[in-house]
Amino acid sequence: MKKVILTHGYADEAVERLRREFRLAIAADEGTDLPGSLRRHADAEGLISFLSDPIDRTVISNLKKLKIIANYAAGYNNIDIGWALEKNILVTHTPDVLTPATADLAMALILAASRRLVEGDAYVRAGRFTGWGAGLFLGKELQGAVLGIVGMGRIGLATALRARAFGMKVIYYSRSAKPVLEKKYGFARVTFLELIRGADVVSLHLPYAAGVHHLFNRDVFALMKKDAIFINTARGPLMDEEALAEQLEKNERFTAGLDVYENEPMVDPRLKHLKNTVLLPHLGSATGKTRRAMAMMTVQAVRQALNGKRPQHLIPEWKEKLKRNTNCSNK
Ligand code: DGY
Repeated sequence: MKKVILTHGYADEAVERLRREFRLAIAADEGTDLPGSLRRHADAEGLISFLSDPIDRTVISNLKKLKIIANYAAGYNNIDIGWALEKNILVTHTPDVLTPATADLAMALILAASRRLVEGDAYVRAGRFTGWGAGLFLGKELQGAVLGIVGMGRIGLATALRARAFGMKVIYYSRSAKPVLEKKYGFARVTFLELIRGADVVSLHLPYAAGVHHLFNRDVFALMKKDAIFINTARGPLMDEEALAEQLEKNERFTAGLDVYENEPMVDPRLKHLKNTVLLPHLGSATGKTRRAMAMMTVQAVRQALNGKRPQHLIPEWKEKLKRNTNCSNK
């Protein structure tokens, strides 16, 4: 039987499937750190990793028989993709299945931030609610407000559609134009500068890459509306967390709803003390249904790869590599 390493436990059904077909090692159960455990299983042919596991050059190089890394997430910036490609190791991820859950969470953050849900909840729990008040926790109305989607991919679109149902006007910034969406839903493509200056709510939906590190920096936060809401359910390093904390400290009308952080699980302590923040522990895909589906996708990917088939959900870089190879061999 081929050996597969799962870095942490996940859906029982998926673990059982893996156990039926492979020699399964669950690294987190072994009482050592991840690199130690991975070294112990250097003969593994499959690796199922979490977004919090750094799968760097050393990890990849030590697993000499590795054929596939199936990342239990849509984002895969935890993996040294260049090195995996170089070593011809397949890399898959779990797109699509988590789109509704993640878009729901982005919408939940927009609502929580605009209507001050966390502050209101704390107020009631503290026994401070003594009667209805005309000025109690006044928030911002979403009807007619402008939502700026940065990255109109699957999750960006699903969030835009949810916001549209709340009466929001959607503008977007994306590498490629989406004429069908513009025609069908009236979404407007704008430049990055137009978006950050014009949006009442900015929601980030880009995958992380070195080229967009700190896309949201001090200068960008300064250009946003003074009472804007900034939502990040994508990846922490897309924003300069320190600059964001400064902006929020300086201006209490500016609000942030965050599900991700620059150095997870660390969170800038200032963000925790401010009232104008809503903070979640990276819950984008955290519904039972979605997490089960994601787990089953990783099982399927490993089964396909270790049975000599091309896995279905290869990351785009791998698809490009295959396309390049086909083009070369057709020449
Ligand atoms: C992902 O899969 O990339 C999400 O961040 C999980 O919540």
